[in-house]
Amino acid sequence: MHADIVLLPGDGIGPEVVAGAVAVLQAVAERHGHQFTFHEHDIGGIAIDRHGEPLPAATLAACRQADAVLLGAVGGPKWSDPNAKVRPEQGLLAIRKALGLYANLRPVKPHAAALDAAPIKPHLLTGVDMIVVRELTGGIYFGDKTRTAADASDLCRYSVVEIERVMRTAFRLAQRRRGHVTSVDKANVLETSRLWRDVAARIGREEFPDVRLEHQLVDSMAMHLLSRPRDYDVVVTENMFGDILTDEASMLAGSLGLLPSASLGEGKVGLYEPIHGSAPDIADKGIANPYATILSTALLLRHSLGLEQEAQCVEQSVSDALDARAFTADLVAHGVAPLSTQQASVGIVQRIRERSAVSELRD
Ligand code: IPM
Ligand code: MG
Repeated sequence: MHADIVLLPGDGIGPEVVAGAVAVLQAVAERHGHQFTFHEHDIGGIAIDRHGEPLPAATLAACRQADAVLLGAVGGPKWSDPNAKVRPEQGLLAIRKALGLYANLRPVKPHAAALDAAPIKPHLLTGVDMIVVRELTGGIYFGDKTRTAADASDLCRYSVVEIERVMRTAFRLAQRRRGHVTSVDKANVLETSRLWRDVAARIGREEFPDVRLEHQLVDSMAMHLLSRPRDYDVVVTENMFGDILTDEASMLAGSLGLLPSASLGEGKVGLYEPIHGSAPDIADKGIANPYATILSTALLLRHSLGLEQEAQCVEQSVSDALDARAFTADLVAHGVAPLSTQQASVGIVQRIRERSAVSELRD
């Protein structure tokens, strides 16, 4: 197949991890007979520097034309002045909103070889396999903001339609998994959460009676995520709770550098990005973990291009690399030499070539 893929490397370690992921996509194309055309555009801090705005019109127009978008990360100290009018993060929020990407899928499945890197006891982690569905275009992130010398406010607002559509995404996923949805809110305090809970219950009852729905308050969820992570299948929550809980959940996988994400809406174009940020402290050192971005390409192949076999090939290659302890600095045990970003990426490219060669022999 032919696919147009827009690359938005962004800031910090973004360009390094995206370069690794592109090499992987090229290997997939070569070995499986596809043609991927890459179009690179600016977003975030680099776009502010070059074009004066974090989401230039040309970037957005290219994304609208594309089959899929692969993003690295945005932000950094250079653009972090709290009084600045434009910030790199606005570019990310604007693109999610403009493309209507309301459902952010963040799978969390610790890999056996990376358990040592996790700060949680290994026996709690075996068998953990959950997917967090984070609402991505509503809530406090997008409500009206005000600021005076004396106070500030961020409005949190959710409509029924916004909750319904992300709930359906979560329930549909659960139907294909273990049939269990945990909806996370703060319904004992927040009105938006009470609406969230009511809509979750109605959608569950009326449209997905085969799926078990459980409600959980976000504070206790933060605790249970660490004490009994195995109990969760699909977790669905609003924008800010999802942001916080998924950074916490990444510790189950051993490193923030291992968690991919897919942002999807009703349209055909999806946006794929690691859940980690731009990590300015390690930028340009060539030591960032590229696996989260590489695993995001697997989600891209699956959700935007419908290439399930190729997606599994990428995931299996990362899994094999982790088995072989092909670790970057974030995962490596003390005293062992870590791989560079490039070495780790090249390792995955080689595994993809070998895997496809083996399957060709079998065919
Ligand atoms: C994420 C990030 C972003 C968010 C930031 C960079 C705006 O933390 O994707 O989780 O809060 O959504
Ligand atoms: Mg975040």
